[in-house]
Amino acid sequence: MTPGQDRKNRRGVPAVYATRRDLLKAGVGSSVALLLSSGRLGAQPRPLIERAIPSTGERVPVIGIGTARRWEAVTTPAEMAPLREVLRQFSGRGGKVIDTAPSYGTAESVAGELVADLGVRGSVFLATKVGAAGRQAGLEQVEASFRRLRTSRVDLIAVHNLRDIATQLQTLRELKQEGRIRYVGMTTSFPRQYPEFERTMRTETLDFIQVDYALDSRGAAATILPLAADRGMAVMINLPFGRGRLFQAVQGRALPPWASDFDCTSWAQFFLKYIVSHPAVTCCVPGTAKVEYLLDNLGAAQGRLPDAATRRRMEEFIERL
Ligand SMILES: NC(=O)c1ccc[n+]([C@@H]2O[C@H](COP(=O)([O-])OP(=O)(O)OC[C@H]3O[C@@H](n4cnc5c(N)ncnc54)[C@H](OP(=O)(O)O)[C@@H]3O)[C@@H](O)[C@H]2O)c1
Repeated sequence: MTPGQDRKNRRGVPAVYATRRDLLKAGVGSSVALLLSSGRLGAQPRPLIERAIPSTGERVPVIGIGTARRWEAVTTPAEMAPLREVLRQFSGRGGKVIDTAPSYGTAESVAGELVADLGVRGSVFLATKVGAAGRQAGLEQVEASFRRLRTSRVDLIAVHNLRDIATQLQTLRELKQEGRIRYVGMTTSFPRQYPEFERTMRTETLDFIQVDYALDSRGAAATILPLAADRGMAVMINLPFGRGRLFQAVQGRALPPWASDFDCTSWAQFFLKYIVSHPAVTCCVPGTAKVEYLLDNLGAAQGRLPDAATRRRMEEFIERL
């Protein structure tokens, strides 16, 4: 039985999580456990909004999972359990994009182990990175990623923070030719790297770029996002919450009533819907290590999205805080 085909009881709750205690044991937060066990969140998952990767037309849901930080120091079964449940629910609800990196401690191997264990390799989109100097070091790092991710084909490998970009891009293109990776890209989350990032976007053919973009940190929208659209590059957004900075900015505040006009029921969805409603954005990878956050974040890939005028209103709202 695949994760999407769990037996459901009459309330639509997977039979394996029939009680609140089961849910809590699996590392599900108490408020979500209550909702799931009451059937309110356990109903049939709704389809997720998808976007096409320009170089192939393949579609991916706009919300994925980032594995920096919370997946980086995971060694015990108790630490693995909530992540396993995150991935099981993610995949069961149609989620695909999982972003990791060899520099994220245990994240790559934990993701590889859980994806293999859950038997979901066929449905998820594994994105990792190479951050090494020199051809040999890059090749060795990539081979280690294949082993840790327990797969013979990685969906996307991106050059991490532009490190030794020319050398690593050449290696990645060879791997793509050999059919071992499907897409090639590069990443940054540092505005000081934007000029070099933009130059590289203009001169190289890339399937994906990954860049930071958040409601209160919109520098990428000036040139990088429009350039990606012009150059036919898919865009994966990192740091969508500014590592939690945005939640601090709105602490103690209620959502504005007009958030319901675009089916937004939480601050996380407010921040994520702002990002994925940018026309150049393909997907976004919020750091996710709790089921409660996963279900919340996937809500941003459902229902209506803000239009251009509402996006401006959201910007003004955050600027006034
Ligand atoms: N240069 C690069 O290539 C680069 C750089 C940075 C990041 N990335 C990628 O981008 C991903 C995202 O960045 P990030 O994880 O550092 O930062 P982020 O996504 O901006 O913030 C993640 C934090 O937000 C909190 N959160 C998540 N969902 C929430 C929800 N629904 N409600 C309340 N809080 C929520 C969690 O905090 P707590 O867990 O603390 O509660 C989580 O650790 C990374 O995981 C990584 O895959 C790539």
